[in-house]
Amino acid sequence: MSYEKKISLLEQKKTEALLGGGLKKIEQQHKKGKLTARERIDLLIDKGSFQEMGMFVKHRSTDFGLENQEFLGDGVITGYGTINNRPAYVFSQDFTVFGGSLAEAHAEKIVRIMDLAMKNGVPIVGLNDSGGARIQEGVVSLGGYADIFYRNTLASGVIPQISAIMGPCAGGAVYSPAITDFNIMVEHTSYMFVTGPNVVKTVTHENVTSEDLGGAHTHATKSGVSHFSASNDVEAINQIKKLLSYIPQNCEEQALDLPYEAGNELRPKLNGVIPENPNQPYDIREIICDVIDSKSFFEVHKDYAENIVVGFARLAGKSIGIVANQPAFLAGVLDINSSKKAARFVRFCDAFNIPLLVLEDVPGFLPGTDQEWNAIITNGAKLLYAFSEATVPRITVITRKAYGGAYDVMNSKHIGADLNFAWPTGEIAVMGAKGAAEIIFKKEISEAENHAKALKEKEDEYNALFANPYIAASRGYIDEIIKPEQTRERLIRGFKMLENKAEKLPRKKHGNIPL
Ligand code: HXC
Repeated sequence: MSYEKKISLLEQKKTEALLGGGLKKIEQQHKKGKLTARERIDLLIDKGSFQEMGMFVKHRSTDFGLENQEFLGDGVITGYGTINNRPAYVFSQDFTVFGGSLAEAHAEKIVRIMDLAMKNGVPIVGLNDSGGARIQEGVVSLGGYADIFYRNTLASGVIPQISAIMGPCAGGAVYSPAITDFNIMVEHTSYMFVTGPNVVKTVTHENVTSEDLGGAHTHATKSGVSHFSASNDVEAINQIKKLLSYIPQNCEEQALDLPYEAGNELRPKLNGVIPENPNQPYDIREIICDVIDSKSFFEVHKDYAENIVVGFARLAGKSIGIVANQPAFLAGVLDINSSKKAARFVRFCDAFNIPLLVLEDVPGFLPGTDQEWNAIITNGAKLLYAFSEATVPRITVITRKAYGGAYDVMNSKHIGADLNFAWPTGEIAVMGAKGAAEIIFKKEISEAENHAKALKEKEDEYNALFANPYIAASRGYIDEIIKPEQTRERLIRGFKMLENKAEKLPRKKHGNIPL
């Protein structure tokens, strides 16, 4: 064959590969409101930087007529490039080829880039759009999945792993995204479940649609499986880029700093945020947004367990993770879901050297049979454990309530926080005044002529003594009581002071976090 013919064969094969399952299937994909696997990569990876690997890989199966159906690439596009000028590996499942189903060769391609991402300390992004295990290939598909799950686990805490769900993701296939650090789901075109609506109907007799069972809204609000929702593929990809901008390339590195010019760091607006009435709610985001660099808050798990707010932000150009009780939702109480949500976020930040800021206004743990029977004990302990083992710089600001066990859990000094501030509005006590008075003055109140008046008096007495930050400060549990307006300036100074913090945990194989 002449050189020209060889080149033309190469071009022809490339053209064939670029078409995936063909024009008709691409059209069907677009009709569903979805981009193709290649269009998604074009949006994600910096222009001209994508280097594909395994474009000509084919399946090797000869069962069920597969010998007559071959598509170059085997339904997944894999490779590397840069995202905002920083290296990244990516795989993008091509629904136009066998419904993006995962088979032996398809899995091998993903595994290859996962191994490279690990060896090179570079994040990996998976764009999932797949009918699951390729049914015709049987057990080798299952083996392929397990090869991926295994690597997801080994890579956890070493390199950031991000999954976008941009189509179906069902059966055991959900377990790769489940192990990765963040899941982004596209509304109305993606779903995740272990068993689909038909099986659910047979087994539990429930009638449920795919959307209700495992759509983006369900996983963003009910299960917490997804961390971000996007209204379409483009928005999902933009969210991935934004997320990556806050996190380092691997566990040995620090996140990138943005240029920052120091100015007046006082924020007088913060002085008016806490209401006069201690039981009146306010939105903790007001405080977050006034403390951090302008418009830098990137909230994670926004619609799940809204009684706690978590997310990334920048403070004087540096990336930080924020965990904040939300008085505007369930009074900011800690419950099972909020503990799990915050614990996972704390562990991510700690694994990737992102300092933690805690804003605390918590009345305690949520009481009730539902919470106790569903193991608030074990789940609350997750957050306690996550903070206790975090070695990144950690600062807490108590804005109002810090009651009971929740005081200990929310990054108290006792569990290793580096700097703890309180506002003059802080109330640090074992419990709220009413509950405390009812218990410790039970006899006096029951013997009083006017029970209500006696209770109120004892409540006021308890409040006067304990509903302040001064006792904690006198013990050194609080380093400084600051005016709200000083918060940003103190935090910038504090994190700067902690910049070179190096702390080692006791040597062990691994801890045993209460799962
Ligand atoms: C092989 C598959 C496939 C699969 C889809 N296709 N899923 N081929 N294996 N798992 C093919 C279809 O045959 C079709 O091929 C093309 O992909 C597009 O599929 P459609 O059904 O036309 O598309 P749509 O109507 O959008 O429906 C998508 C779907 C449906 C909901 C995903 O295809 C479906 O239910 N697929 C099966 C899902 C499933 O049961 N997977 C196995 C789960 S068990 P043609 O040639 O007609 O275009 C599992 C175990 C993993 O994954 C365990 C890991 C531990």
